[in-house]
Amino acid sequence: MNYENLLIETKERICYITINRESKLNALNESTLEELYNALSDCFYDRSIGGVIITGAGQKAFVAGADISEFAELNVEQGMELARHGQKYVFNLIENGPKPVVAAINGFALGGGLELAMACHIRVASDNARVGQPEVTLGLIPGYGGTQRLTQLIGKGKAMELILTADMINAAEALQLGLVNHVVTPEQLLPKAEEILNKILAKAPLAVAAGIKAINASLTDGINGYETEISEFGKCFGTDDLKEGVDAFLNKRKPLFKGR
Ligand code: COA
Repeated sequence: MNYENLLIETKERICYITINRESKLNALNESTLEELYNALSDCFYDRSIGGVIITGAGQKAFVAGADISEFAELNVEQGMELARHGQKYVFNLIENGPKPVVAAINGFALGGGLELAMACHIRVASDNARVGQPEVTLGLIPGYGGTQRLTQLIGKGKAMELILTADMINAAEALQLGLVNHVVTPEQLLPKAEEILNKILAKAPLAVAAGIKAINASLTDGINGYETEISEFGKCFGTDDLKEGVDAFLNKRKPLFKGR
């Protein structure tokens, strides 16, 4: 598939999705979101791909937010539809995806950019990254899950402060808050993201998917996460990979998982 706003590259089992609107600091316009939906759906479907790294083009920004130029003419219904559609087809898709997605935050991650990073399963930031939810500056609030995921990740008190003040914080502060998992130099950003993802890719894929599902269940309204865990735990016993993992352990050899 040809993409106008994304660069897609697959190396070994990792698909690299680079948001490529550098002149607009990789802001997420409607067509970029649509392309993200297509690219992520392909990655989740393609058995040769084990996981995804999302980053931004250039040295300055991961994603500086939703594209503000598309906001001027929207009415109430269109605003709701923008948020609902984006949440469902990109942000929730990533969070609930069956394969690990790592955000490599190479600069500004603001508004929808931080929301995109927060939807990913793991976040690695370069030490020049700056993150925040500046929407109230525009007369808005986050619409792609930011009020929920920021609260889940850093707690209500700090989420209130960040969203209501629109403050931008640096990578060290984000690390301290648990908003990102690791901070490294810009040169080390992709290698660190790859190191983490490759560790995951050496594990049993169906167990990894089950782990994502059960962890997400802990924060999903109306779902009993403990029950999800029981059911996902049980399902693992029906996989070839569990037999392989246990046999490899008992015979002191490395397991060879097939995702079955
Ligand atoms: N939507 C649309 N365009 C954006 C954008 C966004 N979210 N963020 C940056 N851009 C564009 C700028 O309009 C500018 O375009 P131009 O050269 O055609 O004028 C270009 O990207 C470069 O941005 P600029 O503001 O000149 O860079 P800067 O280094 O002075 O400032 C930021 C960087 C990130 C602080 C600033 O761009 C900013 O505040 N962006 C908006 C962040 C935001 O509010 N995001 C939440 C949106 S809901």
